[in-house]
Amino acid sequence: MGYSYVPLKLKSEVIRIRTISMITAEILEELRDYVIPDVSTEEISNICLKLIKKKNVDAGLLGYEGFPAPICISVNHVAAHGIPNKYILKNGDIVTLDLTAGLGGWYGDCAITLKVGEITEEKHKLIGAAYKATKAGIKAAVAGCRMGDIGFAINESAENDGFTILKNFIGHGIGNDIHEEPAVLHWGERGSGRPVVPGMVFTIEPIITMGKDDVETLPDGWSMITKDRMPTAQFEHTIAIFSDHTEILTRLK
Ligand code: MF3
Ligand code: CO
Ligand code: CO
Repeated sequence: MGYSYVPLKLKSEVIRIRTISMITAEILEELRDYVIPDVSTEEISNICLKLIKKKNVDAGLLGYEGFPAPICISVNHVAAHGIPNKYILKNGDIVTLDLTAGLGGWYGDCAITLKVGEITEEKHKLIGAAYKATKAGIKAAVAGCRMGDIGFAINESAENDGFTILKNFIGHGIGNDIHEEPAVLHWGERGSGRPVVPGMVFTIEPIITMGKDDVETLPDGWSMITKDRMPTAQFEHTIAIFSDHTEILTRLK
């Protein structure tokens, strides 16, 4: 039994993924200003497309497996893959923006959860815990560890904060394709799973919820919601493993 093939990246290739990853993160930063009451998610998506064009990058998600928009916008109990629509944001909502953009055949993938106006204490905690869980995963992701160490760290962080990982969603390798090997589970056992080696580039993107780990798809065929309609939060980074350090590529420098 062996592990499936992972396209390891040369340093020169990581540089290219870094370039598009930083632009992806930058676009999300610029979209922050529009995540306010009375703006529809479709309007945010339209602005996103304008920024993508202005920066001369490719809308990686538009048409990906048939996805109809350049960005996934998931509000409250929509856990992932939300299609931007006529929904108008209101005070108290929490919104996940998940963007994958391309440049010269390379991709970067990044997501953030933002609050709209004033939110409840519980939602505030949820967002904080989602951020912490992603950070815990990145910290664990060093050359020489195993995938299970990363998953364990993420799940432990989320559970210590009183929240639940949605196991329907996993991180993934990224490079010339948006989704590549390896699979990155956000739970696991220490010391288990495939070895993490230099040249791997993958995302860490746990989605956590206040409720139960059960999801269903909306009639739009894409938006995944929690069955109990409890809110969710997610932060995603694209990272690169080097022999002596790990770099967050979707970071603003
Ligand atoms: N950016 C998403 C991810 O983190 C990809 C969503 S695929 C889509 O993997 F088709 F739903 F857009
Ligand atoms: Co993403
Ligand atoms: Co991703």
